[in-house]
Amino acid sequence: MFEPLILSLESSCDDTAAAVMQGRKLLSHTVASQLVHERYGGVVPELASRAHEQHILPTVDRVLEKANISVEEINAIGVTQGPGLLGSLLVGIAFANGLGIARKLPVIGIHHTRAHLLANLIESPYPSFPFLGLVVSGGHTQLAEVHSPLQMTLLGSTLDDAAGEAFDKIAKMLGLPYPGGMHIDKLASQGDPMRFAFPRTKTKGFDFSFSGLKTAFLYFLKKQTDPHFVERNLHDLCASIQYTIVAILLQKLQKAMHESSLKRIAIGGGVANNSLLRQELYAAAQKYGWEVFIPKPIYCSDNAAMIAIATYYHLEAGLEEPTFIPPMPRMPFSS
Ligand code: KG4
Ligand code: ZN
Repeated sequence: MFEPLILSLESSCDDTAAAVMQGRKLLSHTVASQLVHERYGGVVPELASRAHEQHILPTVDRVLEKANISVEEINAIGVTQGPGLLGSLLVGIAFANGLGIARKLPVIGIHHTRAHLLANLIESPYPSFPFLGLVVSGGHTQLAEVHSPLQMTLLGSTLDDAAGEAFDKIAKMLGLPYPGGMHIDKLASQGDPMRFAFPRTKTKGFDFSFSGLKTAFLYFLKKQTDPHFVERNLHDLCASIQYTIVAILLQKLQKAMHESSLKRIAIGGGVANNSLLRQELYAAAQKYGWEVFIPKPIYCSDNAAMIAIATYYHLEAGLEEPTFIPPMPRMPFSS
């Protein structure tokens, strides 16, 4: 039986996460989120790398303790290699490289957004291959055909802002805390999604664009004469903008499903926690006979369990792995 003990690390943005997996069974995982960015309304890269430095050792200690495993028992280390913030990636990678050299262990560099899709394989029921994958996070919006855990073809991605970034920037305009996606989601539940109509930028093929929507929203707010317009209409504004973002995502998903012979969709990334997106995807599944897979919320946002499962598949494939890897802030999706 192939059951390596894997320690995985994720530090690409503002969460320091670690997990321990035996074979493909998750033994423990933990996430230390950084609250320091909230007051700036976005992630401050220098503060993020400093916070990672503070969190990484206690996070690894905690995850090993929770799994009841000692560091000597670990057989391989998986770490997010990219894409992400250079300083943040460096902290996880330096830790993994150091431990790999000290204990003579392979260090496997994992692609962050591909791992968001593999998060669907952490717990059953799993999608079988191939499936259409949609990554919707704070930094990325990518549509891909997933042939196997290691083979994915990028079909399209955002030309400007990511879906999560659109949620966060619009939330900021509404005076909501960072990251704003979940706040918009909550407020939207009591609002009317048809109250305000916002434009949807047309993009070719399977690419996305959200920056026009953000600008249109800003000008829409600017032209209001009522100084209390936002507070008086907050729920409807949130419901309407959420409806527009989800409609843009669904339209491309439908096109991709229509043009491919795929019958399954799996999504990942923080925006996969959005309640309207989840609801609409399950409704589309019923309507069109698709199978839809969405990870548990904790595996949608940044986590190290998804890095561990990706590491497992690399090891299972028996790929030759180095003991030292460099960070790749712009790591390409398809190699
Ligand atoms: O995957 P993730 O944790 O980090 C990145 O890799 O970026 O995604 C974070 C993003 C943020 O933009 C956040 O606002 C968004 O996910 N998000 C949501 C929801 N929960 C998190 N967006 C919409 N609705 C939600 N419920
Ligand atoms: Zn992510």
